Amino acid sequence: MNWFYRHYVRPVLFAQDPEHIHRFTLDMLGWAGRHYLMREALGTFFEAPELPVTVWGLRFPNPVGLAAGMDKEGEALPAWEALGFGHCELGAVTAQPQPGNPPPRLFRIIPDEAIINRMGFNNEGAAAVAQALARWRAARAWPRHPVGINLGKTKVAPLDQAPADYAQSLERLWPHADFFVVNVSSPNTPQLRDLQEREALDEILAAMQEVNARCAALAAGRPKPLLVKVAPDLSFAALDEIVSLAGPRALAGLVATNTTVERPEGSIDRSRVYAESGGLSGRPLRKRSTEVIAHLYRQTQGRLPIVGVGGIFDAADAWEKIAAGACLLQVYTALVYEGPGLVRGIVRGLQARLSEMGLPDIPSAVGLAHRA
Ligand code: FNR
Repeated sequence: MNWFYRHYVRPVLFAQDPEHIHRFTLDMLGWAGRHYLMREALGTFFEAPELPVTVWGLRFPNPVGLAAGMDKEGEALPAWEALGFGHCELGAVTAQPQPGNPPPRLFRIIPDEAIINRMGFNNEGAAAVAQALARWRAARAWPRHPVGINLGKTKVAPLDQAPADYAQSLERLWPHADFFVVNVSSPNTPQLRDLQEREALDEILAAMQEVNARCAALAAGRPKPLLVKVAPDLSFAALDEIVSLAGPRALAGLVATNTTVERPEGSIDRSRVYAESGGLSGRPLRKRSTEVIAHLYRQTQGRLPIVGVGGIFDAADAWEKIAAGACLLQVYTALVYEGPGLVRGIVRGLQARLSEMGLPDIPSAVGLAHRA
């Protein structure tokens, strides 16, 4: 299936503007998601075998999830399960609706299997996304896998109002997701990454946990897991500052990593697209993302769940991230390059790797590289 996609489907898609194809794909998947028979048909081709992982008391049918940015508003929510995903992270959603940056803002670097984007959190805002998600539930099309939401800062909200802005999004969306990811690592909102600095992040997390506790009390339930997504461009010292907030602010985990503002050495000579501003994802990100995961795992002695994302294209890449310390994984760019058979292929490959190594399950492989 991947071969067919690469040779016959991808060339047709790649002949057109990247954002146009993104829109078209989401529309198609949104349509398929609305129809039970279409979901079943997709599932027949693409559903992945069971390889369950339980994290935060949530059961993930397999460790491979959809990374944030692909389906910001949950337009195709039921389709991701049919494509084999074990979870999805919607968003980024911001408190207020906003158009994002002017196009063009999405670029492919085909020879390197990479993407540069400067979308800038284009989305309809937390209230509209909450309504859209409520509609999926009412239509009984909610997936069986866990759903997370990535929260960003509204562009026009000044930095000192960031805590209130994030808290407002969380309050609006709280009933609609199983976990939330605080995104302070996108390179495409001015100064956003300054919020990764300890004091600023501490204030944001304090405001969010207050809302989290209040919503939980109102629902007679438990606070939802709150994670922080980090940039691959942070120094290990800066990552350690974030780790130091995990205990005091009851972080449930870390998502590592977002896109990078770095460019591979000499890359601008190879392709002028590398000169575009924005975040780089895909193959060139793989190594740095794994280094960050390994560092976070060491620093937390494996006690804080890490969601590994960045340049995962096949089971070998996925295994590398798990061995470095990730207990869950996410993909975005590889889905564009490899097509809808991606997740099934990765999960099957992970199953094969586990049996080769005589390991019973994914949790027993997490952090393996540190025990060698
Ligand atoms: C992203 N990513 C992203 N991340 C995030 O936290 N919030 C977001 O809104 C977005 N938006 C977004 C748009 C586009 C077009 C891309 C390509 C990426 C980053 C994404 O979730 C992931 O962290 C990186 O893309 C690295 O993973 P891959 O793509 O190498 O598998």
